[in-house]
Amino acid sequence: MSKTPRKILVTSALPYANGPIHIGHLVEYIQTDIWVRFQKMRGEHCIYVCADDAHGTPIMLKARQEGIEPEALIECISVEHKADFAEFNVAFDNYHSTHSEENRHYASTIYERNRDAGHIARRTITQAYDPVENMFLPDRFIKGVCPKCGAEDQYGDNCEVCGASYSPNELKKPVSAISGATPVDKESEHYFFRLDDFEEMLKKWTKGGHLQNEVSNKLDEWFAAGLREWDISRDAPYFGFEIPGHPGKYFYVWLDAPIGYMASFQNLCDRTEGLNFDDFWAKESDAELYHFIGKDIIYFHALFWPAMLDGAGFRTPTAVFSHGFLTVDGQKMSKSRGTFIKARTYLDHLNPEYLRYYFAAKLGSTIEDIDLNLEDFSARVNSDLVGKVVNIASRCAGFIKKRFSGRLSDNLSEHSLFDEFITAGDSIAEHYEKREFSHAVREIMALADRANQYIDEKKPWIIAKEEDKQQELHDVCSMGINLFRLLIGYLRPILPATAEKSEAFLQVDPLTWECLGAPLTAHEIAKFKPLMTRVEAKQIDAMVDGSKQDLTQTPGVAEVKGPLANDPISDTVEFPDFAKVDLRIVKIVKAAHVEGADKLLQLTLDLGGETRNVFAGIKSAYAPEDLEGKMTVMVANLATMKMRFGLSEGMVLAAGLGGKELFILSPDSGAEPGMRVK
Ligand code: 2FM
Ligand code: ZN
Repeated sequence: MSKTPRKILVTSALPYANGPIHIGHLVEYIQTDIWVRFQKMRGEHCIYVCADDAHGTPIMLKARQEGIEPEALIECISVEHKADFAEFNVAFDNYHSTHSEENRHYASTIYERNRDAGHIARRTITQAYDPVENMFLPDRFIKGVCPKCGAEDQYGDNCEVCGASYSPNELKKPVSAISGATPVDKESEHYFFRLDDFEEMLKKWTKGGHLQNEVSNKLDEWFAAGLREWDISRDAPYFGFEIPGHPGKYFYVWLDAPIGYMASFQNLCDRTEGLNFDDFWAKESDAELYHFIGKDIIYFHALFWPAMLDGAGFRTPTAVFSHGFLTVDGQKMSKSRGTFIKARTYLDHLNPEYLRYYFAAKLGSTIEDIDLNLEDFSARVNSDLVGKVVNIASRCAGFIKKRFSGRLSDNLSEHSLFDEFITAGDSIAEHYEKREFSHAVREIMALADRANQYIDEKKPWIIAKEEDKQQELHDVCSMGINLFRLLIGYLRPILPATAEKSEAFLQVDPLTWECLGAPLTAHEIAKFKPLMTRVEAKQIDAMVDGSKQDLTQTPGVAEVKGPLANDPISDTVEFPDFAKVDLRIVKIVKAAHVEGADKLLQLTLDLGGETRNVFAGIKSAYAPEDLEGKMTVMVANLATMKMRFGLSEGMVLAAGLGGKELFILSPDSGAEPGMRVK
């Protein structure tokens, strides 16, 4: 009798909807996806949900900067995120958004239940306020001089030079990073979640086997420091959900972000017969709930989240699995070194299966950082996957096809070798279950060595020449194909696309852990097609070069930031590269407001005979009438950019902090429209 499947709900952290997925993110999605695929292969009822984390000030400001509504921005990013994940074969059962009705419902429910149980406090606090933008400033939108070491241009909460932490009102010469204005103090009423009400419950929970040991030790430090009330509200303008009963007050993005796990699951339930929300989230649920996260967001997932759930009468997570950060070639990912690699840029050059394999080969169950060493990456993929695994099939398939009409032997010739592989499957499964993927990979590769050794010993290419050894040839090659099948089965959670191609070659249904036990005999296989090609050094180089060019730009205006913005001088460019930028003197013949855009002006530029339409983000500093008739400089050969308002055909140059502090560059008198800047 087969056992009842476990009910397992799995999540990865929700990526912010204001930027692309990069390989640092992918560590987590690949790790989670491997674990989920493994559970599914084992026959468990495992569901993987995720969503975009769509709220908060950075998303609101980014949309403004791009001249679009936040809803349009998050929609556009959601399409990109989903495409990136799909191509990396990260197979969510549902991908939703925190900006959804389901999430509004659960955020309100969780808030109201906690409020009714007395876990929400309200009081008036004083905060920095931008008098130009008329908004309160989150710490990271205030810049100034570090109170400890005097370094300029530091964020409102900590200094990147001396590492000091402080509160924004300690910062000297503070300015708003949005408008450049000096912030003023302003009072407002805020709502707080009384985390300290849950101290007992959390102490018990964090010691209850729900966290990795090193994480639970870290939590002891936080308990020792004392649990503080958590500010869960923000004032308008804010992109988020209004707090029920408090117009103009919004839930802080981190309040509704983890609730997005529930919202995404609810959205799936609504579309799936027989899938019931309460079976997974009710207090008495017997389902397992796992959150995969990065170690930077432990506080939210190991303290706030279980407390909020408990306070609202929902179940708490079975476990929170934290992982470390990704370094590339031993260092933090860097745009200038070309190691800040977007998922899309990777996909433009390399097969996603390579990265899935490499990460798996590096990942364990701890919060240690992992390194992507680009040389080691090629070497490992080429030697392990192409050289060892795929090679086994290619060494045997030709003989089976040509000599035996594609049919495998009726019987397995080496039972003990087959059994050795099956026995190893148990410990491989145990490694997967415990997220010790690097151990699983090591064992699988030891089996691949064993299979190659078997073929080397049997030398099918020699026996193929001896007429009386045809049965042996058939048996050896059939055995080789069977060993290949087991290896691919074991690698399937890591290499889903290669497994799928292999299943087509073997002409079998999707492999499950259970079906692996029965060998493939008296069975016809298809013609072998190469399953994977080698990584070439030039592909890696092209990806790194592509990443160097990925630096983001605000549409319509190249902003040369002021000294306070602390933009370090960018990396050197060679003259031939610089010479590709075609800078031209232009006359602004017309400037107009753009309906629905806070920051943009529409400029009609005369290039000396040719006219260009450019949307420039300079409205904060210029009225249209200030600009008409002015000469300035434009990038004339910038690729056109399709915007909501029309096509932008270039970019004008301006310097400054932004806001009112923005100055378009003008040539001395005598310069004519169309002249090239040299
Ligand atoms: O740190 C982040 O990128 C957040 N967007 C993660 C949210 S995870 C969950 F709580 F939603
Ligand atoms: Zn400092």
